[in-house]
Amino acid sequence: MAELVPVEPFDIVVFGATGDLARRKLLPALFHRWCDGQIPGSSRIIAVARDALSDEAFSKLAAEFALADSASAARKARWTEFIQHVQYIGVEADGAGPGWDALKLQLDECPDKLRIFYLALPPSIYGKTCESIGKHGLNTARARVILEKPIGHDFHSARLINAAVGEIFPEDAIFRIDHYLGKETVQNLLILRFANMLLEPVWNAIAIDHVQITVAESLGAGSRAGYYDRAGALRDMVQNHILQLLCLVAMEPPASLEADEVRAEKLKVLRALRIMTAEQAGSAIVRGQYEAGVSGGKEAPAYADEVGADTDTETFVAIRAEIENWRWAGVPFYLRTGKRMRRRRSEIIIQFKPVPHDIINADSGIMQPNRLIIRLQPDEGVKLMMMTKDPGPGGVRLRYVPLNLSYAETFDKNYPDAYERLLMAVVRGNLGLFMRRDEVEAAWRWTDAVVQAWRDGACPLHFYAAGTDGPERATTLLGRDEREWFDA
Ligand code: BG6
Repeated sequence: MAELVPVEPFDIVVFGATGDLARRKLLPALFHRWCDGQIPGSSRIIAVARDALSDEAFSKLAAEFALADSASAARKARWTEFIQHVQYIGVEADGAGPGWDALKLQLDECPDKLRIFYLALPPSIYGKTCESIGKHGLNTARARVILEKPIGHDFHSARLINAAVGEIFPEDAIFRIDHYLGKETVQNLLILRFANMLLEPVWNAIAIDHVQITVAESLGAGSRAGYYDRAGALRDMVQNHILQLLCLVAMEPPASLEADEVRAEKLKVLRALRIMTAEQAGSAIVRGQYEAGVSGGKEAPAYADEVGADTDTETFVAIRAEIENWRWAGVPFYLRTGKRMRRRRSEIIIQFKPVPHDIINADSGIMQPNRLIIRLQPDEGVKLMMMTKDPGPGGVRLRYVPLNLSYAETFDKNYPDAYERLLMAVVRGNLGLFMRRDEVEAAWRWTDAVVQAWRDGACPLHFYAAGTDGPERATTLLGRDEREWFDA
């Protein structure tokens, strides 16, 4: 396990504590940090949701995902210890109700302690919830709030949410989570780019042909179909996770790793993204939706069957994006994400240009341009494809082989998952791993134009069978540019 630095004691109030996110991700994350000794014993977790539940009933609900049946006796004992620090209070987050007084009573026991509110709630009630936090005087000088993505469903709603939250909390107390920024391999992007002399001089339109960013999932919308059908792949994945990845790949070197230095550079990239007209979107975007198929060796239902109605929501999107600045002029960024794809795979591929002058005989083999493959998950690693001479006599024979850095082979350690890391980053006040208000709004501006183009009928839905690489049309998107998706 990576080196542990304990954080200061804190109280965390998890709104939406009976929901999927809290049970699957947040409580397990807090439990794991607790087990590793990173969370001091005087910290408290206050789980809050609408229902009236006893602490025992909540503890059972929380254990479902945090504690595997097969957990060792020692682990189970740790859970019993951990759950003593978890208290459940029934509170109507966006209402008044007596629950708020009970919450206040609890929090007031430690008025000077670092206090964190995690809003694992629908974004439409972020504003109202913060208003209630303010009304009950819970927003002390040491209070912080965590907002889950998506912040709103468009630029306008995001602005309203940001303004309402901003009434109660100052910007440096607002932590907008994009859990991709908590992934080890995503954090490594900055180090890869800015702690190695080798890459930066060629990290531009002179040497790079194009960039591919793929976040493919093998799972379908499943039990989240209700939420997902209102969001779709564009709002659920592209507006946040994929654009954040694009920013980290495309941004200029910040003056330091200080939060606002990094965020300012990311913002410039978002502002330089070409806003598409309907006509441009028509040729630069492919929307897809999965039909029934075989995924992971099992029959998988069609998305519409999961939703239970005909729906126009996209479960796949591929986009040819462009960044209008000196560094990236003419370099397409192909973005692709989808559910129920052939396999789970997130990666960034930087495709370099061919050498300017080829001195090798054609019969020695095919010259291929360098390719840098950054695998975010699974099998985290970095691979640089290089041309080499196949060893041995008999003249020059070319071989295209990888310089391979596999995390599993190189680093003999486990590391905390994204939510564990981000929760600890909030306690430390490390804003660099979270999105600033202007970043979120700039990402929505670009996304809104895409949605508008879709509303104008620019991008009809193309179907794909579950368990495949998405609609055929996505292949044509690159084919037209005489390029192809790499299956690294
Ligand atoms: C979430 C999306 O933000 O990210 C989900 O809402 C998606 O739809 C998930 O499945 C993917 O995250 P990860 O960490 O599994 O790649």
